Amino acid sequence: MLEPVVGAERLYDIAIAERRLRRTLAAKIGPPPTGWRGDTATTAAPQPPATEQRPPATGGRPGDKREDKKSSPAARTRRPPQTYPTPTLSRRQFLSGLHRVLQPRTYLEIGVSNGRSLALSRVPSIGVDPAFKVTAPIGCDVQLVRATSDDFFATSDAVAHFGGTPVDFAFIDGLHLAEFAYRDFTNVERLCSPSSVVVLDDMLPRSDEEAARVQIRGGWAGDVFKVVEILRQRRPDLVVLPVNTEPTGVVVVVGLDPHSTVLGDIYDEVLEALESPDPQHVPDHVINRKGAADARELLDLPVWSDLRRLRDGADNHAVAKAIAELSAM
Ligand SMILES: C[S@@+](CC[C@H](N)C(=O)[O-])C[C@H]1O[C@@H](n2cnc3c(N)ncnc32)[C@H](O)[C@@H]1O
Repeated sequence: MLEPVVGAERLYDIAIAERRLRRTLAAKIGPPPTGWRGDTATTAAPQPPATEQRPPATGGRPGDKREDKKSSPAARTRRPPQTYPTPTLSRRQFLSGLHRVLQPRTYLEIGVSNGRSLALSRVPSIGVDPAFKVTAPIGCDVQLVRATSDDFFATSDAVAHFGGTPVDFAFIDGLHLAEFAYRDFTNVERLCSPSSVVVLDDMLPRSDEEAARVQIRGGWAGDVFKVVEILRQRRPDLVVLPVNTEPTGVVVVVGLDPHSTVLGDIYDEVLEALESPDPQHVPDHVINRKGAADARELLDLPVWSDLRRLRDGADNHAVAKAIAELSAM
């Protein structure tokens, strides 16, 4: 891992510079034809056809295996056109709605950038980012931590700012690589209560390219979508609900267990799957947002006020009953 050597901030800059260089090189090699995989309806940039070798993910991250069989042209298949209902809310509108219906006592954000999503909070908050440049007007009592999320969670008093209150609402939007999002979720859960809500960003990428670990062109969701399958398989006690938001979807997780050690215990076992190299293959059900909740309808459910009411009671059974309606969505 390069991160301990060069630091997360520098690593992030390197990734951005690398992406720019790859775009320039790709343009020099020749503009790719349109119509690849029929994704053009939702993907602005022209994409290579299924039979064409995509630009190799060279110079990417440690662990990339260029000779991976998924990277051979024959291994890629043309998909039917991507179809999913038009999202009723953007990611930001959905987060704003969650702040309104949840009325959390505390808010934790991993990945702050310019503070646009942090600006939605009106309660004691902590924002963690090794390279934040907050320009949005912040309307809450916030502690900004200039550190990687791993370093932040490694401290014994990470959430001392909350004075002993658990994290009621967390938004994970840091480094968009699956193993980072997985660790962020694992660490956040320890600081939550059973009635807390965690949202992970960019969980419904619209193409394999958008989900690449090394971005080639256009918007970048990264490969964080891989976390969902692991949570579903290894933590069936959690409700893991994809939500159809603009542009790249989110996942809401409820039914948290701050005492669970499962995700930490299996980290080494699942790491290879999390770090699987580019090109990524985003499953069709993710691309087509099958089973993803409508954002507006989700906010209208009574579960949020139930969770609010149950916050102090520590009645796990009642919390489980309240969130059962979410698992039925
Ligand atoms: C997509 S931006 C966050 C956007 C912000 N949440 C919003 O919606 O306005 C991702 C941020 O994650 C930060 N980041 C990168 N690596 C990180 C890490 N290891 N831990 C925490 N944040 C990280 C980057 O510096 C960047 O500002």
